[in-house]
Amino acid sequence: WKLYEPEEAKYEIGWIDSKKERLAKHRIKAILATPSGRKPMWMSEKYPEIRQVERNGQRQPSGERHNHCPSSPIYRQKVRELNTRLAERYAGHPALALWHVGNELRGECFCAHCLNEFRTWLQTRYGTLEALNEAWWSRFWNHTLTDWEQIDPRDGSVDGLQLDWRRFQNHLHVSFLENEIEPLKKITPEIPCTTNFMGFFPELDYWRWSEVLDIVSNDSYPSYDANDEMWKQAAATSLTHDLIRGMNRGDAWMQMECSPSCINWRRLNPLKPAGVHLAEVAQAVAHGANTVHYFQFRKGRGGHEKFHGAIVDHDSRDDTRVFQEVAQAGNWLKEMKIAVDSVAPRAEVALLHDWESQWALNASCGVRQPTAAGPEPHDAYHQLLFQHHRSWWQAGIPVDVLWPEAHDFAAQIRGRKIVLAPGQYLWKEEIAHQLRDYVHAGGCLVLSHLSGVVDASNRVLLGGLPGHGFHQAAGAKVEEWDMLRDDEQLPLQLEGKLSELPGQYHFSLAYGLLHLQGAEALAKPAAGPWTDRAIASLHAWGEGEVLILAANFCDTFYRDLARWLRDRHSLERPLELDVLEGVGVAVRDSVEQAQRFIFLTNYTSSPQPLALNEDMIPFSSKEHGSSTQITLQPYEVAVYTQALKVR
Ligand code: GLA
Repeated sequence: WKLYEPEEAKYEIGWIDSKKERLAKHRIKAILATPSGRKPMWMSEKYPEIRQVERNGQRQPSGERHNHCPSSPIYRQKVRELNTRLAERYAGHPALALWHVGNELRGECFCAHCLNEFRTWLQTRYGTLEALNEAWWSRFWNHTLTDWEQIDPRDGSVDGLQLDWRRFQNHLHVSFLENEIEPLKKITPEIPCTTNFMGFFPELDYWRWSEVLDIVSNDSYPSYDANDEMWKQAAATSLTHDLIRGMNRGDAWMQMECSPSCINWRRLNPLKPAGVHLAEVAQAVAHGANTVHYFQFRKGRGGHEKFHGAIVDHDSRDDTRVFQEVAQAGNWLKEMKIAVDSVAPRAEVALLHDWESQWALNASCGVRQPTAAGPEPHDAYHQLLFQHHRSWWQAGIPVDVLWPEAHDFAAQIRGRKIVLAPGQYLWKEEIAHQLRDYVHAGGCLVLSHLSGVVDASNRVLLGGLPGHGFHQAAGAKVEEWDMLRDDEQLPLQLEGKLSELPGQYHFSLAYGLLHLQGAEALAKPAAGPWTDRAIASLHAWGEGEVLILAANFCDTFYRDLARWLRDRHSLERPLELDVLEGVGVAVRDSVEQAQRFIFLTNYTSSPQPLALNEDMIPFSSKEHGSSTQITLQPYEVAVYTQALKVR
């Protein structure tokens, strides 16, 4: 920003002209970022109100980045003025491909202006203080508000308030984004706008952000080292990719940032083992990305990120291992260009995701949270999501991630064979109805002990859980929750239809005790105080069925259950035979070319044998000949094609 506007209202936009000309000459397009992620020093000093105020009331100093006040009228005005000039300067420029608006926008601010805006926002949402008090259950601990001025988001004991504060902060960021986009759209309507997301970043509801963007992009920094659990990280990354694709409504998305080697901001920043970078690039493409970009091209000599991975290192050579791996990834992308018109097909399995459920759950005192010392993720909501998604990844079945608040949610779930809603804690009546209709029409819905618990204000739903009468469709109520110590796990006794699962299983953390009302018991604890109580159930309802998996089960249970459900509901399998743990399978279909692209990746450090379907053809001569029995070398990516079957 300082280069564009060295002093207030003195603009020097032209310093990148020559760079843009050079790009245009070589027919290279550029994504031009707006600089609002970091305010210039002069502005920060002249207008202190643009700096965020911390929870303790202290205004932040001018330094750092990503710390502007998101409601500040003056900052918004400055951003608009600069964006207007950028857009005017480069409108029609052949090298301008896309606007990258801001950078990883985030943060919360407790300044007087934000607090006042929060009160106004609440007035619009609730109308009266009575309605607000009712929604926040304020009588409890004598929190009844008698004046809007008394509202203080720092009160962590009012869980409805905490949920609304998160919603409001998110709303500010979205309106900040809209304010930035407006002049860009006005002057360059044909240039799409994006901003870079941070995957599952806990404080922001990106579903709502995605509604104001033309295309969704994401930054991906998984921590891959050579340990045997790498495939679990890969599975988690594929969930993030599926989420981003979902926010782009299934269309191709952009991976805006990744590092070819290491990052520098975790305590431990290991290098990716040789070959892993290509696997990572291919994974994004396999899950629907059509571009992969880097942070950063060249390592800076100084500053906070001088040791962050880059394509070019401090000695400016192209014969380094990293440069060569990037070149290899570039060549692979060039080869894959033919697949650019393909997209991930509509998956038969959908997983529901919703930040409001996560916020409500994490603001609710008494919910069992995983220990911070254990493996990631560290919150109950994501733990369930990761476990469920991973089991389908292991079963080799693609999953779409959907947002229950989408205006066309009913249409989005219609016809899917399985819908997973294990952490759908916030249970609006409309969503409950849509899910009920889905089951009635023949769908299979999978819930957990944390599904269907509270309303939009974080108040528990009355009359039995899952709420809004959904326990009738489920044939069971989640009556109580019990919890285990951090180091404790209990064995599982399988019953009824699940007796055929092959393994010995256990569960940990927390479990719900089911009161069966027509449903069949699928599992009970084999030890502990509640051996007579079902903790998993199945109920046929209408044309469909509801499963409640009311515990944090072990990974092998989820894996075997996903396979069981896959066979029970005759899901379409990209590979007919099971894949080994650690092999990722993803598909993209091109209707135009009547072709399917199948991406197979080995995310382990040892060779993995694999059986292909008869009709799979190697995409390039480098693949494994025409045999259907292949072995994927450590971190190897192989692409196959197949004639597209009309569904
Ligand atoms: C984020 C930012 C970049 C850079 C990288 C480092 O993604 O957008 O500016 O700081 O992190 O990993």
